[in-house]
Amino acid sequence: MLDNKIVQYFKDNIKLINKSFERRDLDILIRYAFDNEKCKYIENIYNDYYRSSVLKFAIRRRLLNEPISQIIGYRKFWKSTFFVDKNVLDPRPETELLVEKVLELPNSKLSLIDLGTGSGCIAISIARERPNFEVFASDISYDALKVAKKNSNFYQTSITFIKSDWFTKIDRKFDVIIANPPYISKKEYNNLPLCIRRFEPKIALLAGPKGLDSFEIIINQFFKYLRPKGMLLLEIGSTQKKIIEKIFHYNGYSKIEFFRDLSGKYRVVCVKKDA
Ligand SMILES: C[S@@+](CC[C@H](N)C(=O)[O-])C[C@H]1O[C@@H](n2cnc3c(N)ncnc32)[C@H](O)[C@@H]1O
Repeated sequence: MLDNKIVQYFKDNIKLINKSFERRDLDILIRYAFDNEKCKYIENIYNDYYRSSVLKFAIRRRLLNEPISQIIGYRKFWKSTFFVDKNVLDPRPETELLVEKVLELPNSKLSLIDLGTGSGCIAISIARERPNFEVFASDISYDALKVAKKNSNFYQTSITFIKSDWFTKIDRKFDVIIANPPYISKKEYNNLPLCIRRFEPKIALLAGPKGLDSFEIIINQFFKYLRPKGMLLLEIGSTQKKIIEKIFHYNGYSKIEFFRDLSGKYRVVCVKKDA
């Protein structure tokens, strides 16, 4: 947290900051506008007209519900910080469970693809932890892939990126297929907070009228793209366990394992090719 004196200074001087403006957001935006180092002493802050303007502009954007991550341009996930913009989903903490599950696998030379990679947060986190894995990442969105490649270059991970509508441009098999696909129904989408609907890509969230369109395609097709003993790991919505089980059963799979997140909700499903 920043020194209270610094925060009070801006509260007194920037009229836009009303009572409901969150202290945590204000801290982050002050640090963003003034650099961490400068924020240590209030003397550094007085009379810096340029940086005060940057701060005011950032506060205006926040007041219009823009996510903090898009204003400052990055978001933390697992052990790294990822560039984000309006073309990618903000990496969510619950998605870290997918990374955890992959890291429980033997640390041998496995091949893995992350379908619908978005910012690349999952694929890059895994590639950084397991440099001996052969990692691929795909997305239907060219703009999302641009962000993922920027993140991958930043961390110097060696990942092959593919623009593909799920498996349509995939022409090889993998030991592990992972995805955090869109899984929100039309009704749920319409009830999402404005900051999500207005600023996060619809294509990353909405999956048809029941939120199941992506799962139906992936579950119907993944088998062909798995090597012997390979596995599929998917993030699911916290209320989707039963329906996901049903889709797997319908496609002929019976050994289905679910994993809970820290809040006790089922969040990841795993099916092994030879189980
Ligand atoms: C829920 S977001 C997940 C992003 C990222 N993996 C994460 O966990 O933060 C879903 C991603 O799937 C991508 N996507 C949506 N439809 C797709 C399709 N038909 N084929 C491939 N990717 C798709 C979206 O562009 C988006 O990046």
